[in-house]
Amino acid sequence: MSGDNLKKDLKKILEEASKSIKDINSISDLEKSRIQFLGKKSLLISLMKSLSDLTKEEKSIAGKDLNNAKTEINNLLADKKISLSKVDNVKKDDFDLSMPGKASSVGSVHPISKTMDCAIQIFESLKFECVEGPEIEDEFHNFTALNIPDSHPARAMHDTFYLENNLLLRTHTSSVQVRTMSENTTPIRIIAPGKVYRKDSDITHTPMFHQIEGLYVDKDVSFSNLKSIINIFLKSFFEQDDLKIRFRPSYFPFTEPSAEVDIEYIDSKGNKSWLEILGCGMVHPNVLDMANIDSSIYSGYAFGLGVERLAMLKLGITDLRLFYENDLRFLKQFQRI
Ligand code: PHE
Repeated sequence: MSGDNLKKDLKKILEEASKSIKDINSISDLEKSRIQFLGKKSLLISLMKSLSDLTKEEKSIAGKDLNNAKTEINNLLADKKISLSKVDNVKKDDFDLSMPGKASSVGSVHPISKTMDCAIQIFESLKFECVEGPEIEDEFHNFTALNIPDSHPARAMHDTFYLENNLLLRTHTSSVQVRTMSENTTPIRIIAPGKVYRKDSDITHTPMFHQIEGLYVDKDVSFSNLKSIINIFLKSFFEQDDLKIRFRPSYFPFTEPSAEVDIEYIDSKGNKSWLEILGCGMVHPNVLDMANIDSSIYSGYAFGLGVERLAMLKLGITDLRLFYENDLRFLKQFQRI
């Protein structure tokens, strides 16, 4: 075997390999081609074996040429393998374009948050500004400044979760009334939505629930102003102009006079009953004075709505605990409300 002949042979092998690898359409044909050009019985390998017939110098030149040819064929095979594995080279029949895709499930806003948002929107349209207060409160803002002194039995009625250093989890959003009055100038017209906490758990109570506090302080605010805003809100929230609303005298230390508001509820069998939905009243003069608002000039009303109650009535849910079990079968029913 002479050097020139080897070069010619290699050139031929490379031309043939490049032509045939170019036309390959499948991985299995690619493997056949590898065996054909680089396998034990291939021409290239038999040429490598015949190197022993050459002189030392010839061997080193021919060896290099053979190795280069082998590398080149290997590269051709590798490039082809990459292009075969690309999606656009896969036969169209491998895809069923009509098959449904894998949909990822998207979460949705919790029914309680939706109820809050809806209520907030109505109050904002009535020019109430939305404010927030802390859930960890002190006794002063949760009780004392609301005319509930230390020894007052109402403190015991609140089933409070106490923390260290005279701190507690607020039992109602009325604490935000106090903070707003001491930090702002009159007139004040706010709502304060948020979580509140009480040691209580049964079919109608959970240890955490939501309230929306309302407060309006100005000159000449009257009980009829309070009644009218509550009527407008409830009719708008339940989208029912003839909704029956009842104000029932009640007692809260921080309002005088005080009332609880019921709405008439008709169940699926047509039975009517009154359901309590909020507490309200005229802000007690002591509360105004404690917040440095002159009660001889200013008056105000306040109300506290139970959000879970509103949601249960609007969505027809009878067990409050369902809201907090996070059962997707329950939650998914409210995706589109
Ligand atoms: N804070 C009272 C409660 O949690 C509700 C309320 C708020 C009553 C404002 C009157 C005025 O029950």
